[in-house]
Amino acid sequence: MGWGMRNRISQIIKPDTGRTVMLAVDHGYFLGPTSGLEEPRKTIESLAPYADSLMLTRGVLRTSVDPGVSVPIVLRVSGGNSIVGEDLSNETITVSIKDAIRLNVSAVALSIYVGSKYEHQTLKNLAALVSECEEYGIPVLAVTAVGKEMTRDARYLSLACRIAAELGAHMVKTYYCEDFEKVVKTCPVPVVIAGGKKIAEKDALQLAHNAIRDGAVGVDMGRNIFQSQDPVGMIKAVRSIVHKNATPKQVYATLKLGKSKR
Ligand code: R5P
Repeated sequence: MGWGMRNRISQIIKPDTGRTVMLAVDHGYFLGPTSGLEEPRKTIESLAPYADSLMLTRGVLRTSVDPGVSVPIVLRVSGGNSIVGEDLSNETITVSIKDAIRLNVSAVALSIYVGSKYEHQTLKNLAALVSECEEYGIPVLAVTAVGKEMTRDARYLSLACRIAAELGAHMVKTYYCEDFEKVVKTCPVPVVIAGGKKIAEKDALQLAHNAIRDGAVGVDMGRNIFQSQDPVGMIKAVRSIVHKNATPKQVYATLKLGKSKR
């Protein structure tokens, strides 16, 4: 691995702890103005100071992030689908490598849909992207997207993560599941977890804790942070779990939640 590639990875996975808190705000690429992300600039401004990187699309990066920002960017470069469209797995590469470089990103991210109708297409997308990115030292984060019909278990997720790594992804983002250690153990590149749909803060903190305990290098969390009643409190709490091995109980007490949300 060349110096540039290693340097970019170390911008994301912090060398002092070997861990990372990525803030995912890319949901609009297929969900439109998701709750909590209606005005991306507002959400990003308040949370970026606590994120090790921002995962977003080039449209939101250009319009809603100040170029003076120091947080590393993980650019989503796959899409072409929507929540109301025919098949979510029908994705293509949406950004040229030249534009990713022009935007000075630290990594690019692309979804694969193992077991879906467009599995082959999305795996080809990943392989082509890795080949191109290798030329410029840009790391690729593969996102193992799960269709409605798939079970998010260790058997399926380890299959998807391993295929992503075998095709050359430098990091993999997946979901937490029972026996998650097996997913991490059989994936030769660093694994981060997505948060998934909004759940109670207590449960989301436990999820982050369990993922780290079981070998993930961090989280790439979105809705459980920006849809929380206390988004800043939540990202700070997740940081303490990821970087300082804090317990969910310790950090939950710091959140400012209304009684009905507890
Ligand atoms: C989904 O396809 C996007 O890549 C999201 O970035 C990802 O799911 C992480 O966000 P969340 O924690 O809201 O699931």
